[in-house]
Amino acid sequence: MTTIKGIVFDLYGTLYDVHSVARHCSEYFPGRGLEISMIWRQKQLEYTWLRSLMGHYLSFEEATDDALRYTCSHLKLPLKEDVRATLCNEYLKIQPYPEVPAALAELQAMGLPLAILSNGSVRSIQSVVNHSGLEGRFAYLISVEHVKVFKPHPDVYALAEKTMGLHRSEILFVSSNAWDASGARHFGYPVCWINRAGGTFEELGQQPDHMVSRLDELPLRLGEVVSR
Ligand code: 2OP
Repeated sequence: MTTIKGIVFDLYGTLYDVHSVARHCSEYFPGRGLEISMIWRQKQLEYTWLRSLMGHYLSFEEATDDALRYTCSHLKLPLKEDVRATLCNEYLKIQPYPEVPAALAELQAMGLPLAILSNGSVRSIQSVVNHSGLEGRFAYLISVEHVKVFKPHPDVYALAEKTMGLHRSEILFVSSNAWDASGARHFGYPVCWINRAGGTFEELGQQPDHMVSRLDELPLRLGEVVSR
């Protein structure tokens, strides 16, 4: 196996918990927070995929905003303008999973450049990362904004290879989103799937090279990969 010389992470749902917005949703819609957050996230993803197929790119923030309006309309919950703006703003401040800060520090100490490749806009990625105080961990923050199409389009995966100056076989792509892990594997990255919820991998003709249940299992696994 080619030596891994860099690691690229997905952001939403991989390093950062999209459902950390649920408690803010509950403030405005008591008892409905997680339900809203689950539909909101699913619809947000669908809108990115549909926008890519339509050839009509809008930013991730706009897709997020559209998805929230759909969600409230679907659940027949009145969404005031100020609440919509507040909840969308919370998406710029979602929290990392608890084990992530220490695990990133450990990976960085192994001397590998770390990057994020996300559907988020430059502004969204910077906002989330800066808000969590983890900006010092990453050598590169890479947004789909540069190609104006969303994952799993191959043009997006190509961005990381180009930005990091490494061949795809030298970059470990890490995602909790099985559809994203499939897209990256199809592009040619070795892939590690973080299967936090004990889920089922997608049937898209690809299999992850590695599977862990939390990010803090990766340093040890990577040690094995690099020394193999
Ligand atoms: C990402 O961060 C949407 O989770 C996906 O690109």
